Amino acid sequence: MMKIALALYVVYAIGLAVALARAGLRPGPALSSGPAAPARRILVIGAAGRTGRRIVEGALARGYRVTAFARDPAKLGIEHPDLSVVRGDVVDPGSVDAAVAGQDAVLCALGHNRFLGPSDILSEGTGNLLRAMERHGVRRLVCETSLGIGDSAGRMGLWYTLFVIPVILPFYFWDKTRQERRIAGSATDWVIVRPGALTGGPRTGRLHHGRGVGSLLWTVRVSRADVAEFMLDQVDSGAYVGRAPGVCRGGPA
Ligand SMILES: NC(=O)c1ccc[n+]([C@@H]2O[C@H](COP(=O)([O-])OP(=O)(O)OC[C@H]3O[C@@H](n4cnc5c(N)ncnc54)[C@H](OP(=O)(O)O)[C@@H]3O)[C@@H](O)[C@H]2O)c1
Repeated sequence: MMKIALALYVVYAIGLAVALARAGLRPGPALSSGPAAPARRILVIGAAGRTGRRIVEGALARGYRVTAFARDPAKLGIEHPDLSVVRGDVVDPGSVDAAVAGQDAVLCALGHNRFLGPSDILSEGTGNLLRAMERHGVRRLVCETSLGIGDSAGRMGLWYTLFVIPVILPFYFWDKTRQERRIAGSATDWVIVRPGALTGGPRTGRLHHGRGVGSLLWTVRVSRADVAEFMLDQVDSGAYVGRAPGVCRGGPA
């Protein structure tokens, strides 16, 4: 009986990985983003989160004028002359639209912990964001999703493929596949950044990035600080426009 239950579980877990591979994004040729003036004003969605906060700090250090979008502005706790903090919720199209107006680029590090049932916060919230960007002519979107989707399915390692994703995160990852599809169907110059398991470690500047990053066996990790810097690197770079690079630690500095 135990053997049958275990076999059924493994079939479910592998079936889910295959479904995430098929439903998620498999980027085609890179988009041509054309010449654009370097961004000056950037909007950070999920700014009070653990990656979002690192993006805000990094963006200010790089000299951008930053708008931080947060449900609870007090949670951010950063003050800077080039920082505006706006209260908003991604599922409220009006607050998203007001925040997007006048920006040059958007970085999205949206996430939540309502894992245990169906949710569309990531896909619906990103849909609102994309509509606002198209309305206001804001072209560059850099959005954090995750390894384990589309052509990176299975690349979080076996622990995630056989346990974490099928048991804890199936609804969340399904929403992420829809989020990626929405982004890819938009008229923006998008970059989807797919990190491995996130840590609170320091910035190392040593990253593997691109297609094929990750491992089918071992859990690959990367610090939020490194992901934030990689995302900021994409604001004015054409290298990954229309692509979904994986990122994990390692590689040359
Ligand atoms: N944990 C991992 O190992 C891992 C691995 C790969 C990828 N990722 C993905 O990477 C992303 C960032 O992860 P993280 O750990 O840095 O995230 P996090 O700390 O959970 O931050 C997510 C942010 O999104 C905000 N948010 C949630 N719902 C919102 C809404 N309706 N409107 C506006 N903002 C909302 C949260 O706001 P509040 O502060 O108000 O809650 C929070 O500030 C997530 O998508 C996550 O799934 C995580």
